[in-house]
Amino acid sequence: MSTKMSREEYLNKVKDLDTTTEKPKELDNTDFFTVAKERRSVRQYDPSFKMEESEIRDILEVAIEAPSSSNLQPWRFLVIQDQAAKEELLPIAFNQQQIVDASVVIAVLGDKQAYNNADRIYSESVKNGLMTEEIKENYVNSILQNYGNAPAERLSRIAMIDGGLVSMQLMLAAKAKGYDTVPMGGYDADKFIKAFDVPENLEPVMLIALGKGTKAGFPKNRLPLDDVLEWNKY
Ligand SMILES: Cc1cc2nc3c(=O)[nH]c(=O)nc-3n(C[C@H](O)[C@H](O)[C@H](O)COP(=O)(O)O)c2cc1C
Repeated sequence: MSTKMSREEYLNKVKDLDTTTEKPKELDNTDFFTVAKERRSVRQYDPSFKMEESEIRDILEVAIEAPSSSNLQPWRFLVIQDQAAKEELLPIAFNQQQIVDASVVIAVLGDKQAYNNADRIYSESVKNGLMTEEIKENYVNSILQNYGNAPAERLSRIAMIDGGLVSMQLMLAAKAKGYDTVPMGGYDADKFIKAFDVPENLEPVMLIALGKGTKAGFPKNRLPLDDVLEWNKY
């Protein structure tokens, strides 16, 4: 009796789960544990609320403290701020309303050629007295060899993993600053790449709506830890 459901229908089903009426919780205490526990995916935003660019930058500055493979920081961000651009994104993201209502949508992308920045990144470490020129040269050469010869799928996987880490840090930073987010994988990546002229070396990781939530996300429910935890070996 299963009838095939479109992705748009599926993504909009989430509204049926969302019976919350309260507003997103404003945190008095922004210690890490409170922020991590209180973050929820928020899908209703105040469309008239515009975030200052400086605040978006502050959140991204914290996000980019995330760890990455060989510190190559393959994340790239496209901040979609103009209403017209958000309208263009709306159907590409299966008409999820948060796309147009949130202050901005941040497309997190992963650069599969991020290893080309190795020299720049590690030269800075030499400048800061953190390593010798010789160690840097050796290390950068091994990065160029290792990543430069890696198959495309491996580079893509690394970009995705690192992109996921930076995304999480972005969402927690936003919550700590009094804003809400929802990560989104529900969009047509090919159409997004075309419409937003994404260069070939970049791969979309996820979209994140960011803004002032008007309604809390539905409360969290997680599998018990013991159902997802094993020790030492499977
Ligand atoms: C990679 C990823 C993709 C997601 N895609 C969507 C999406 O397209 N639309 C949406 O409303 N929520 C999306 N979510 C949010 C999840 O539904 C949400 O994180 C989950 O239900 C747990 O709720 P919480 O974030 O409030 O803890 C996505 C989450 C992740 C991590």
